[in-house]
Amino acid sequence: MHDDPARRPLDRGAHDPPEPFVAQANVTDPDLRSAFEREWPDCWARAGDLLEWERPYESVLAGDGETPPFRWFDGGRLNASVNCVDRHLEDRKSQVAIRWEGRLGETRSYTYLDLHREVNEFAAGLRSLGVGPDDVVTLYMPMIPELPVAMLACARLGAVHNVVFAGFSAEALAARMARADSRFLVTCDGYYRRGAATNQKNKADNARISLDHEVEATVVVSRLGEETHLGKDQYSYVDLLAAHEGARVAPVARDAGDPLFLIYTSGTTGAPTAVTHTTGGYLAHVAWTARAVLDLEPEDTYWCSADIGWITGHSYIVYGPLALGATTMLYEGAPDHPERDRLWRIIERNAIDVFYTAPTAIRSFMKWGSDHPERHDLSSLRLLGTVGEPINPRAWEWYRAHIGGGSCPVVDTWWQTETGAILASTLPGTDAMKPGSVGPPLPGIEARVVDEAGEPTPPGEPGHLVVDRPWPGMPTTLAEGGTLGSTHPARDDGGFRYVAGDEATVDEDGYLTVLGRVDDVINVAGRRFSSMELESSIVEVNGVAEAAVIGSADDRTGKAVCAYVSPERDRPADDDLRARIERRVREAIGPIATPDAVVFTPELPKTRSGKIMRRLLEDIANDEPLGDTSALRNPEILGEIESTIREDA
Ligand code: WT7
Repeated sequence: MHDDPARRPLDRGAHDPPEPFVAQANVTDPDLRSAFEREWPDCWARAGDLLEWERPYESVLAGDGETPPFRWFDGGRLNASVNCVDRHLEDRKSQVAIRWEGRLGETRSYTYLDLHREVNEFAAGLRSLGVGPDDVVTLYMPMIPELPVAMLACARLGAVHNVVFAGFSAEALAARMARADSRFLVTCDGYYRRGAATNQKNKADNARISLDHEVEATVVVSRLGEETHLGKDQYSYVDLLAAHEGARVAPVARDAGDPLFLIYTSGTTGAPTAVTHTTGGYLAHVAWTARAVLDLEPEDTYWCSADIGWITGHSYIVYGPLALGATTMLYEGAPDHPERDRLWRIIERNAIDVFYTAPTAIRSFMKWGSDHPERHDLSSLRLLGTVGEPINPRAWEWYRAHIGGGSCPVVDTWWQTETGAILASTLPGTDAMKPGSVGPPLPGIEARVVDEAGEPTPPGEPGHLVVDRPWPGMPTTLAEGGTLGSTHPARDDGGFRYVAGDEATVDEDGYLTVLGRVDDVINVAGRRFSSMELESSIVEVNGVAEAAVIGSADDRTGKAVCAYVSPERDRPADDDLRARIERRVREAIGPIATPDAVVFTPELPKTRSGKIMRRLLEDIANDEPLGDTSALRNPEILGEIESTIREDA
């Protein structure tokens, strides 16, 4: 093994975990992976035992672990709000649970006692409006403390929350409420974006009008502090709290496999798909990874700069840190408003111990220059993390040097909305870090890279990233034996396999490097869009015949959304059409999905069977040599598209 020095892990710019970090790390056992392997699936009791169970589980995983259904922590009953709030009252009721900083620089802190009071009062309020176990409550709010409070209040009642990113349009909200048959909505009057107020309630009202089903109650948080008109079945958040002042709601005990929340993600089809995460397995998995990978301790002040509207925020702003009794930071604003050192100010002022962000943000920080972080004392930081997309080694090194002062380990964590929690990462107290590689699968996780035939690829050879064993945070669809996304390449023996939709390589040390998506999902700045979903909104525009959407390389965001549009015959391809396309995407999905470029072309490159060849469009956008064009019916169109793009550039 490793006879060739060039292939040794430490010869490729790898870094050992820093000594002072190791001395205090939560996980320091170098044999943890083999212990998990030996004891699988019972090894996952280490995660289950981080939780407080109202009724203890009888088995860590019921059955043989190979055939569904997969029942994690079978027989156990628990309540997520008890685990994230009540159980911390004894030891740390005066410790800050949530520290909030608003867009305008306002701050608010909720101790665990405050959080307990407000979660109970709001749960009592929701219950008085008719919310009960298994009801789906949609939460459509920006990064304000009322959002995690509402999540935990739902959890207390055994209701299922459905958080919809606040920047999504009325139409996108309506679609996500309709599919979930959600009859309750919690939203706010509006919020600030770069200093300007936006009207959130308007969007919520428009969504409600377009729904076929009745919305029984809408609760409105006042973020802007102005008078809001409340219509029929609409209630003010503060009035509801006041009406239930001092109320206590007995937590509803849930089976480990009962739903905690649902969340939408972009799959390969046009419509967003929901995944449901469980109360016991999910919570155990996020708590264990927050401890083992993010190294969180109750004493830590921790900051994940994601939005709670995405899974990262659910798992690692709300559930993971609060389950461990840490202090979690919530920031409503932008990283560069009013100045480009806003984040470093927040880290300094709050003495943040652990910081978790996305590569796209790191690339922006790099571009803005190291003088911004250098003006601040960031020495409180102990560990840094990244998630959401591949990170290039240069950005990784910059992050470690300029934010981590060279002394913090950097964990590059791979996971997805579907996986619920981290599945691959180095363990910061034991594993060497290789910039650009996420590291090995976590202990107990059977992630591997396989070829088209479903067989493991040799080191360095790209293939499909798959997970060949169930994991505690798996969504209910997979736990029940259903499928999610593509099932190709399946296992020969028909055993359990989740195909993640990512392309990856593995090296001699078992370290995974994620290259990107293999399917028609575009990852822009760590956010997923389905090309089909974007295309179907574009072809609704009057004058558009066909559209193909691809992700092209972008220095900062990793990928930019590029839409190739062919207009109807005799219809002009002009700025008016371009403006209508952009407007339609904003209406259908939201401003975050607006294409960075709209390129008009008389035709799209198609195979003889009529399939649009997106790969060739990607090659053109990325200025790369064209791949095989022999399958094309209209190869001449490529030259035409190329010249349009170069003219525009
Ligand atoms: C997709 C999942 C849950 C994380 C936030 C995004 C990509 C995620 C990494 C990483 C390279 C990564 C994958 C994955 N991705 N983490 N560390 N290195 N790529 O969740 O929206 O469900 O997207 O993000 O392509 O499939 P998501």
